[in-house]
Amino acid sequence: MLIRRARKEDYAAFAAIEAEHPGYPAWGEKGFEAEENNRNSVTLAAECDGRAAGFINFWILRPQVQLNTLAVSKAFLRRGAAGALIGKLLEYAAKNLCREVDLEVNEHNAPALALYQRHGFELVGRRPKFYNNADDALLLRKKI
Ligand SMILES: CC(C)(COP(=O)(O)OP(=O)(O)OC[C@H]1O[C@@H](n2cnc3c(N)ncnc32)[C@H](O)[C@@H]1OP(=O)(O)O)[C@@H](O)C(=O)NCCC(=O)NCCS
Repeated sequence: MLIRRARKEDYAAFAAIEAEHPGYPAWGEKGFEAEENNRNSVTLAAECDGRAAGFINFWILRPQVQLNTLAVSKAFLRRGAAGALIGKLLEYAAKNLCREVDLEVNEHNAPALALYQRHGFELVGRRPKFYNNADDALLLRKKI
């Protein structure tokens, strides 16, 4: 599993990965492209067998890192791709002297909650009916 900076040619594959997870807020190719204009934004790809297996996007807003989106293709689930992407985010955070990583996640997203718990994120808040005016968003934070 190789973790590297994302390139324009990855965005179609990222959008296809998003489409594999109905209900997950999708950025689409245009959304990833727009991030290129944001100097604080980092998008990484997890590459496996020469294919984009997953992606992560975060903003470095010292002293915080905001994790915006993270997804892995169904063909590559439970092979450590998300963990490797989070590991690289933590490297960026440390290099940029950031003290915490923040994210929000749907209260019913059990795989993501298990992933974040495993990586030391803790519940710090809740936004009621944040998703489609129905599900709550949980605010999670990892102190570095
Ligand atoms: C959540 C998601 C990113 C996990 O990706 P992944 O590459 O399969 O995760 P990893 O292989 O790195 O898993 C690491 C650990 O997270 C936990 N985990 C991941 N998926 C899990 C699941 N379906 N059920 C329970 N625990 C899970 C486990 O502790 C796992 O370790 P293990 O495999 O040794 O048991 C993936 O399921 C996904 O893309 N979901 C749709 C998009 C999404 O919800 N993103 C989260 C944004 S907030």
